[in-house]
Amino acid sequence: MSYPEHRLSRLRGAAVLREMVAEHRLSVSDFIQPLFIHYGENVRSEIASMPGQFRLSVEQAIETVKKLCDAGIKAVLLFGLPEKKDAEGSDTWSDQGIIQQAVRAIKQTVPKMLVITDVCFCEYTEHGHCGIIGERNGQKVLDHDATLNNLALQVISHAKAGADMVAPSGMIDGMVGAIREALDQSGFSHLPVMAYSAKYASAFYGPFREAADGAPQFGDRRTYQMDVANSDEAIRETSLDIGEGADIVMVKPGLAFLDIVRRVKESFGLPTAVYNVSGEYAMVKAAAEKGWLSEKETVLEILTGMKRAGADLIITYHAADVARWL
Ligand code: PBG
Repeated sequence: MSYPEHRLSRLRGAAVLREMVAEHRLSVSDFIQPLFIHYGENVRSEIASMPGQFRLSVEQAIETVKKLCDAGIKAVLLFGLPEKKDAEGSDTWSDQGIIQQAVRAIKQTVPKMLVITDVCFCEYTEHGHCGIIGERNGQKVLDHDATLNNLALQVISHAKAGADMVAPSGMIDGMVGAIREALDQSGFSHLPVMAYSAKYASAFYGPFREAADGAPQFGDRRTYQMDVANSDEAIRETSLDIGEGADIVMVKPGLAFLDIVRRVKESFGLPTAVYNVSGEYAMVKAAAEKGWLSEKETVLEILTGMKRAGADLIITYHAADVARWL
């Protein structure tokens, strides 16, 4: 008797059958493209460490969103680069804030594009931390209550601007509950929350911090992001977020954390997103530029691996390219 694997690979038309029986398949509906929205006009500046990704002013972002829509991409995730940073990140809840302007403009011109907003403060505060900084025993620490309060202001403002989903990324304890409650009380109980539930303190965010100018000016994020060495903790964090009302949970970064994606998916069976972060993108781009890797094959392998691990949604800077390849 010959073995089934043998028959599948030797058969004439094997490629067709392999395609038919493939357990996982990438589709344009899997992807969410992050966009960096920059204040001002006619800004389209390429991010040095992320070739092919740009900081875009609102009217430029609209052009990009139109192209993404034509390519079949269904969702974008917006990050804002405001004109002015301050101690609190007040641009995040201003009617004229950079994200509010972008959301309104995109929903007006490309209404069917699902617009997700990143909900955080690090790109909006002078100190680059994900909330309000207070003091305890002479030490600078994150003021939780003040931060949760401002997170509520931020999501309501995003919702009023027309966001289809909010994605809190700060890993602040209690943030999902505070956001859910704020939305419910303001007439936005239909708006889903995608929580960055298992977010690791990772070196792979380097290029993003250049892109979004959001590196912490002192200290690091280890007090609120998870230690790379932990896995059970990811399950506990995710379970808390789900208890607080998260509709979609996220694991971030992707490549070094696919075991976490699998565990989260199997533990909760909730829609699970993975963030194929800036450093993962930059590595592939750099190697491809040198001719050391085939970009297309590498990217498709990485993203297929993410689906195989259990991801239902993939946030990736490769989205537009992959849409073209599929
Ligand atoms: C925080 C945020 C970060 C990323 C997404 N949201 C940076 C951080 O936590 O330092 C990183 C995403 C990427 O690297 O692509 N608002």
